[in-house]
Amino acid sequence: MKILLLGSGGREHALAWKIAQSPRVDKLFIAPGNAGTAAVGENVDLSPSDFDGIAQFVIDYEVQMVVVGPEDPLVKGVYDYFQHHDLLKDVAVIGPSKAGAVLEGSKDFAKGFMKRHGIPTAAYATFDGTQVEEGCRFLETLQPPYVLKADGLCAGKGVLILPTLDEARRELREMLGGMFGNASSRVVIEEFLSGIECSVFVLTDGKHYQILPEAKDYKRIGEGDTGLNTGGMGSVSPVPFADKAWMQKVEDQIIRPTVEGLAAEGIDYKGFIFFGLINCDGQPKVIEYNCRMGDPETESVMLRLKSDLVDLFEGVAAGDLDQRRVEFDERAAVCVMCVSGGYPGAYEKGYAITGAEVPGSVVFHAGTALKDGQLVTAGGRVIAVSSYGKDRAEALEKSMRGAEQIQFEKKYFRRDIGKDLG
Ligand code: AMP
Ligand code: GLY
Repeated sequence: MKILLLGSGGREHALAWKIAQSPRVDKLFIAPGNAGTAAVGENVDLSPSDFDGIAQFVIDYEVQMVVVGPEDPLVKGVYDYFQHHDLLKDVAVIGPSKAGAVLEGSKDFAKGFMKRHGIPTAAYATFDGTQVEEGCRFLETLQPPYVLKADGLCAGKGVLILPTLDEARRELREMLGGMFGNASSRVVIEEFLSGIECSVFVLTDGKHYQILPEAKDYKRIGEGDTGLNTGGMGSVSPVPFADKAWMQKVEDQIIRPTVEGLAAEGIDYKGFIFFGLINCDGQPKVIEYNCRMGDPETESVMLRLKSDLVDLFEGVAAGDLDQRRVEFDERAAVCVMCVSGGYPGAYEKGYAITGAEVPGSVVFHAGTALKDGQLVTAGGRVIAVSSYGKDRAEALEKSMRGAEQIQFEKKYFRRDIGKDLG
């Protein structure tokens, strides 16, 4: 089979690495990919949101399956575009319809969906630009800190957690006044939940689902979870508190009602569902839904998925996912992300990278490029090292050694990935 994977980050390199291992794959294309994906498939110079360009490529190269890495093309309706195209409707698209991607694309929709289906989540209310005063009054009924979320996609920047009522009121006005453009024309105000987060991933064919290895990501730039938020500095899998009993609650109270709820609402959903969960004294609650895999969680999860990912994708397309098997590797996996100095603020690109082959670990490229044959930095998050270990400590040790070995100017990485989990 010929597969086209859309995207260009560490998540996509990890997906490409796993897809390429499948005996079912004759040819893997990645659009646009990065210097790492070029080693496991063929990069194609197309943007994931150039639907016409992608369609032409799929027709010309007789691609049978399109796997969508990032949320943006899903929210823009790439699945529906294929469905409505005479020559493309039989191509399997792994990713939900536009209506399904709204689970990620609108926080207000996601909250309403959870309310309708009795899925545990934080209490909330949504306000638009005409309801600033109502919003402020709702804030007064909550305890600090205050959680404000722009309704639409904001590249991970749309959530503010404010310590005081004054700040929360001020930020609410700013957001509803257009701080994030259209994305914050509505704002969800939410009860603050405290606990440890965990990312749970599911593949669904719209009726059946299979649960993939869970993971935890580390978002802050500094060790001890300090400093600014980033796109992710590392990840671990498994997550110790996500034991059998906890995962059973997640399946019964969250996963099954979500998949059944989508079907009951007539929403076409064939792809990944990413449940961003928080463990509140043993009770899992949903912080957010995403309609794709997590980054950098995928860089740990793919190591722990023993089964053939393409077989699972075929199950998604055929609607017989229940007949497929998901096997987990019992070992731990830890991913450590090397980033450009200055990130998540201003940083420079184009520095030469050396030592990017790490024996005994798997290196996933995030923001890299080839310039005149030389591997160079091309983003804030540059390159990740993922390793297996008998436990998290061993896996972390190996990934850190790899991160030390990889050299580029002003490189930075965190040394404490997974250490908070004991
Ligand atoms: P989101 O984009 O919804 O994942 O939010 C980004 C981050 O904000 C989450 O990963 C959490 O760390 C935090 N967060 C979001 N909602 C809440 C909440 N209700 N209570 C506590 N923390 C939250
Ligand atoms: N790691 C969180 C995300 O991918 O949104």
